[in-house]
Amino acid sequence: MKGNIVVVLGGTSGIGRATARLAHEADADVIVTGRDPVRLDAVREELGATAVALDLGDAGAVTRFFAGLPAPVDHVLVSGSGPFYAPIAEMDLGQAGAFFEQHLVGGLRIVRECATRVRPGGSLTFISGTGARHAAAGISIAAIATAATSALVANAALEIGPVRVNAVAAGFVDTELSARLLGDGLEARRQDLRDSLPVHRVIGPDDVAALILHLMTNTALTGSVYDVDGGQQLTR
Ligand SMILES: NC(=O)c1ccc[n+]([C@@H]2O[C@H](COP(=O)([O-])OP(=O)(O)OC[C@H]3O[C@@H](n4cnc5c(N)ncnc54)[C@H](OP(=O)(O)O)[C@@H]3O)[C@@H](O)[C@H]2O)c1
Repeated sequence: MKGNIVVVLGGTSGIGRATARLAHEADADVIVTGRDPVRLDAVREELGATAVALDLGDAGAVTRFFAGLPAPVDHVLVSGSGPFYAPIAEMDLGQAGAFFEQHLVGGLRIVRECATRVRPGGSLTFISGTGARHAAAGISIAAIATAATSALVANAALEIGPVRVNAVAAGFVDTELSARLLGDGLEARRQDLRDSLPVHRVIGPDDVAALILHLMTNTALTGSVYDVDGGQQLTR
């Protein structure tokens, strides 16, 4: 990836940061975004990356960010905020609308930007999940987003080829997000996964980043969702 420009939206923590680090180690020039200035500074220092403040919930700012990129770029990864869980009867529909605006309409916006700003044969990768593929109480927002991401990458791949569009679908990944969601239950969850997953270990952000780097560099891959969950979905 020497000399490639790799853009990681939400690249200051977790899966995004691990991907930025791996791309940097592969001699790519990395541009990361995030909201927290302290974490942006940390990535700038660690990776020599260009680090840009960007809230993915701000559509105008996203458009301006892409307009300011040194076109063409080679690869784009879209990470960002996690899901929210609530039963349909109780959820704040305004919050649900904002989520879909950012993740679904925002996804279309990013595809549109990448159609002209990613070089032919380059890639756009989204992050999805394996956990909400089956119906369960309280996960409808995540389930809709999961189904939508599969549809988005397939249709976008047809429309903007030879730019390639894929998603990785992760199970539990041991990131700052997971630590925040689980709080005091984090260590028990890790142990449960060590005991139950076929791989007998917890999946970390580097595992997901390795798959994302593969999707960036293997030019045969487009329009699909690739699972990285240590076999978690087999243990339901
Ligand atoms: N961890 C898992 O188990 C798991 C499993 C399946 C799917 N995923 C998905 O993978 C993605 C990344 O998860 P992660 O675990 O790596 O999370 P993370 O450690 O919290 O990292 C999220 C990154 O995105 C940035 N971000 C969050 N909200 C943003 C916003 N509104 N605008 C711009 N940047 C934003 C964060 O920086 P700032 O907060 O400073 O902006 C950070 O750089 C999420 O979409 C998550 O739902 C995670």
